[in-house]
Amino acid sequence: MLTCLYHYPLRQRNSFGLDVKAAKFVEYSSVADLQTFVRQNGTNPLADTKQPLWLHIGGGNNLLFTDDYQGVILHSALRGVEEVYRTADKVRLRVGAAEHWDTFVAWSIEHGAYGLENLSLIPSEVGAAAVQNIGAYGAEAKDFIYSVEAVDLHTGEVAMFANAECNFAYRFSNFKGAWAGRYAITYVIFELALNFVPNLSYHALAEQIGDNATAKDLREAVIRIRRGKLPEPAELGNAGSFFMNPVISPEQFAELQKAYPAVPHFAVDEGIKVPAAWLIEQVGWKGRTLGSTGVYEHQPLVLVNRGGAVGADIVRLADAIIGDVKAKFAITLRPEVIMV
Ligand code: EPU
Repeated sequence: MLTCLYHYPLRQRNSFGLDVKAAKFVEYSSVADLQTFVRQNGTNPLADTKQPLWLHIGGGNNLLFTDDYQGVILHSALRGVEEVYRTADKVRLRVGAAEHWDTFVAWSIEHGAYGLENLSLIPSEVGAAAVQNIGAYGAEAKDFIYSVEAVDLHTGEVAMFANAECNFAYRFSNFKGAWAGRYAITYVIFELALNFVPNLSYHALAEQIGDNATAKDLREAVIRIRRGKLPEPAELGNAGSFFMNPVISPEQFAELQKAYPAVPHFAVDEGIKVPAAWLIEQVGWKGRTLGSTGVYEHQPLVLVNRGGAVGADIVRLADAIIGDVKAKFAITLRPEVIMV
């Protein structure tokens, strides 16, 4: 079935709680319906511009609408979890893109399929989790994605991608890079372990976990940590981390460390990652308010709508933070949130 609604309010569809409308909202409940939509409406002619004619959204947890959307918002209603392959030590699950991420994480653990514990409670739908390569507490979605099924929004054909073809990286995949606007993810195939081995690489999580911890214990510890640091979008509009953690060169880091010996840092393949939260706190933005927006008290990487903000207000706050961090540290913060 294709559901089409006009002048559709998006307030419940974006976690900032911004009061914007879409000219048209289309939800499809089968792959064939999506293909019909594409074939009836032709290609997505403006897919490469800032305001494409169609925009496919997931849970709206990583979007910042700066205005009403003049085109079509597409949304999937494909749900369900299906086992497609099993060996003695692993299982592959094919999951509908519109499945609520954390419901799937809980389901997997209850059904003895392990790996996703550290990604508990991330607000997302399954398709968007792949687009964005969501991550937390030492794990990323890409570590468990076996392949991705999609519909090509130019041709209506079904396309399949192996993990390696998706070009997954830190909060990145081809679905938001080279292929942005081109594919609608319909199903994600996850490969999970049948034996539970906890991922305790994140120090604050390891501290909370005893030797005999179960997958459920690990999930609960992650949920406790998240609840302590991150605001619930239903209570305080936000999109999780607004910025990505910047990666700088070893030379630039050496300079920074000379001036600020206590600067936290993590070595990664591309250079040295410096927590954006630390940079933002150092320039005095942690917990501050600007009009109807603000910087969250417990995690300065999170920008919040304190009530009644419009997209431009949040952009203004983000720009002020970017400017102050740049002036003090010569580091440019890049938004993780996608501005529409
Ligand atoms: N820090 C401060 N001040 C603060 C908070 C943190 O200086 O008030 C510094 C500390 O040095 C701390 C470091 O920042 O050690 C890192 O903080 P944290 O572990 O909370 O993680 P993060 O780097 O700020 C990232 C992800 C989160 C994810 C956590 C946990 C990004 C952009 N964000 O945040 O993801 O939950 O790690 O793994 O990578 C999201 O993407 O929406 C998100 C919430």
